[in-house]
Amino acid sequence: MSAKPLDAEALELRYLGRKGELALLLRDLKDIPLEERKPLGALGNAAKADLEAKLAELKGAAPAAAAAAPGLDLTLPGQPFPKGSLHPLTHTMNRLAEGFLKLGFTMADSPLVEDDYHNFEALNFPQYHPARDMQDTFYVDAKDAAGKFLLLRTHTSNAQIRAMEKQEPPIRVFHTGRVFRSEAVDASHSFAFHQIEGLYVDKGVSMADLKWTVDAFMKDLFGSGVKTRFNPSYFPFVEPGAEVDMSCVFCKSGAGRCPVCKGSGWLEVMGAGLVHPNVLKSCKYDPEKWSGFAFGAGIERFAMLLYGISDMRMLYENDLRVLKQVQ
Ligand code: PHE
Repeated sequence: MSAKPLDAEALELRYLGRKGELALLLRDLKDIPLEERKPLGALGNAAKADLEAKLAELKGAAPAAAAAAPGLDLTLPGQPFPKGSLHPLTHTMNRLAEGFLKLGFTMADSPLVEDDYHNFEALNFPQYHPARDMQDTFYVDAKDAAGKFLLLRTHTSNAQIRAMEKQEPPIRVFHTGRVFRSEAVDASHSFAFHQIEGLYVDKGVSMADLKWTVDAFMKDLFGSGVKTRFNPSYFPFVEPGAEVDMSCVFCKSGAGRCPVCKGSGWLEVMGAGLVHPNVLKSCKYDPEKWSGFAFGAGIERFAMLLYGISDMRMLYENDLRVLKQVQ
């Protein structure tokens, strides 16, 4: 089809061009006696008009034919093509990562299948410490060099140990990833979920640095109107330890019967504290010289608050009606 306009041009040149066949014929007309010349001239002009019409038709024919081809109407709107999008949890992790990169933290990695030492021991959970009971997990049928079963990590805090083993202080890192606990699934619990961990060790790092960083991070995520507060709490690997609450982003007051904060006005969102000297020692950081803070938070909670999801299970069911709302 695309050859036709080219043919038309070649034909035009050959028959209607300045030195074309018709021009030659008409030029010879002047040698013919007048009475014969008249009808011949009329014939010549008729032939010219005929040729011009045919050529115009030929030239215009190609696009006209394409548009008219059955099943192809270029003016119709396109067929929708379903495209994938990032999962709400991935979106949330990316948003958290952006926040921490802005605050000067770098991204660290750590394994999901971990040994007892990095998940517990180095974090100041001795072998029979009762704090281990809160983090029952799944064990892998393989042992580490110390003869202990490998396990699925119960929190991202192993990233603290892994990062400090790799790097001299000062250090400022964060890590996001999956963690596991032997828990029954309900609207706010799951045997597998996600956490973000942060660690900053330098000279003279104090609780004030922790409070500022956590507050800045929460404001980056939920807007400048959000408030944070610290309650004393216990985790073996921090001293002092705290639980961080943020002001409820739904009812913004605590008045009434908000189902999210249960009317308290506050939501518990993370654990935090100053890195315990025993943890620094186990990573060969001198606690007389260095101090630091650490914090850890569940990512599902943030995703639910950011996207208004009321049941954590919705994040794992891959229902397109949920997934489509976060693009
Ligand atoms: N790892 C703790 C948990 O999963 C949270 C935490 C992290 C607390 C860092 C203090 C410091 O519950």
